[in-house]
Amino acid sequence: MAEILIVDDDSQLRQSFEKLLKQEGHLVRVASSGEAGVAAVNESVPDLVIMDMRMSGITGLEAFRQMRETAPRMSVIIMTAYGTTETAIEATKMGAYDYILKPFDIPEMLALIHQALETSRRSKEHTATREQVSSSTNQLLGSSRAMQKVYKSIGRVAATDALVLIRGESGTGKELVAQAIYKHSLRQEKPLLIINCVAIPDTLLESELFGYEKGAFTGANRSRAGRIEQAAGGTVFLDEIGDMPLNIQAKILRLLQEKQLERLGGGSSIPVDVRILAATNRDLEKAVADGEFREDLYYRLNVVTIRLPKLCERNDDVFELANHFLDRLSAEMEMHNPGLSEDGKEFLVTHEWPGNVRELSNAIQKALIFNRGAPITRDELTQVVGLSSDRHAPSDVSDDAFKAEIRQVLTKHAGENGFEMLMDYAGRLVVGEALEITGGNRTRAAKLLGMSRPTLSARIDKYGLRTHIKVN
Ligand SMILES: Nc1ncnc2c1ncn2[C@@H]1O[C@H](COP(=O)(O)OP(=O)(O)OP(=O)(O)O)[C@@H](O)[C@H]1O
Ligand SMILES: [Mg+2]
Repeated sequence: MAEILIVDDDSQLRQSFEKLLKQEGHLVRVASSGEAGVAAVNESVPDLVIMDMRMSGITGLEAFRQMRETAPRMSVIIMTAYGTTETAIEATKMGAYDYILKPFDIPEMLALIHQALETSRRSKEHTATREQVSSSTNQLLGSSRAMQKVYKSIGRVAATDALVLIRGESGTGKELVAQAIYKHSLRQEKPLLIINCVAIPDTLLESELFGYEKGAFTGANRSRAGRIEQAAGGTVFLDEIGDMPLNIQAKILRLLQEKQLERLGGGSSIPVDVRILAATNRDLEKAVADGEFREDLYYRLNVVTIRLPKLCERNDDVFELANHFLDRLSAEMEMHNPGLSEDGKEFLVTHEWPGNVRELSNAIQKALIFNRGAPITRDELTQVVGLSSDRHAPSDVSDDAFKAEIRQVLTKHAGENGFEMLMDYAGRLVVGEALEITGGNRTRAAKLLGMSRPTLSARIDKYGLRTHIKVN
């Protein structure tokens, strides 16, 4: 049984709804205007509101806006008798659960009510998990045998000063393991320096890591300690070490063997006490055979190794991880956790997950962006998993029409700001579409577009897109 509030100025409609829903076993309240509806919600928040759009007094839209202030997560179904769906779209942008056109089909309406109630029930269940979730961010999860083995290894090596090499495919959690080792180490109060060997250009990597003396190269006006020196006493995590240039490999080897380093352009050796952790997803043996990785460094690194299993080798963990990401990401996006449908669950254990845990987390995030409240299905997952491997920009089906338009604008505005104008035009369409897809939810739209929420807001203002205060 649920509590449902009907807001409509048509008394006949109110009565038939009341009868119908009571038969279904619900508790029904009615209000004959937007104002009365708002007052009813202020008094006690129902599980669901079904409200007409056009009423005398304040409109359904305005009433909805006011209700949201009291009950941001309440499900609302908007009814509209008017052919144009504009207002209904606005209502959904503001976060209405759905809208339905009058006259409606009763079974369809009942199905919609059922769905909306499910959503509101789950949204209540999940609000409590938010804090639990944020504290467990960045924790290694998974209770499969393979992961148990990983935890044991971490426990065994953490409190030693041993050099540890962490191996595993991309997205299997190597960085998390490095952080776990650090957290449980004797150096946990000292800094952890993470150096991604591929993110820093080769030409800068050496001076970044080892520092330089004044005059070492043009522009070196003063001496500077490198990042390793700055991390003295702490831990240095060399991520993607398999991709490190050979000359730097030599310097790292020396650091490992002699616990000393030399700044660029400097003659003297500087003693440095750091613990080194390293990770790679490369086949180091092959890299050695190909002459891309120093054999002596390889042997030095290959003493204590933690190997991370592929996600598809530990099906037991897939649900645990998926549920964790569902909780965490839905809380982050301020939406309720829709859960997984049966075929959605089946998909999780049958998919190969070539991108491992990262791919799983991305897939869940994308599925949530598009989700409308019902449990995530196989279809929804296949679509977003497809998205992640498909790096294509927009299809070129309508390139010609696009080009013709561009040509016209450029010709007309030759010598002016044609480029900016066209970019704004495209930007406006893209942002508008993202808001449309996400029902006007800016947090989700920003995720969808891969930009921060403030950036999105700035764009919305810039393009003069109509905005709505959106609470959930
Ligand atoms: N066991 C796990 N429990 C919870 N989250 C995990 C786990 N393994 C990986 N993740 C998450 O998956 C993502 C990828 O993990 P991480 O960056 O550690 O992978 P990686 O092995 O370093 O990948 P790459 O080789 O691509 O750098 C991160 O968001 C991480 O939090
Ligand atoms: Mg990594």
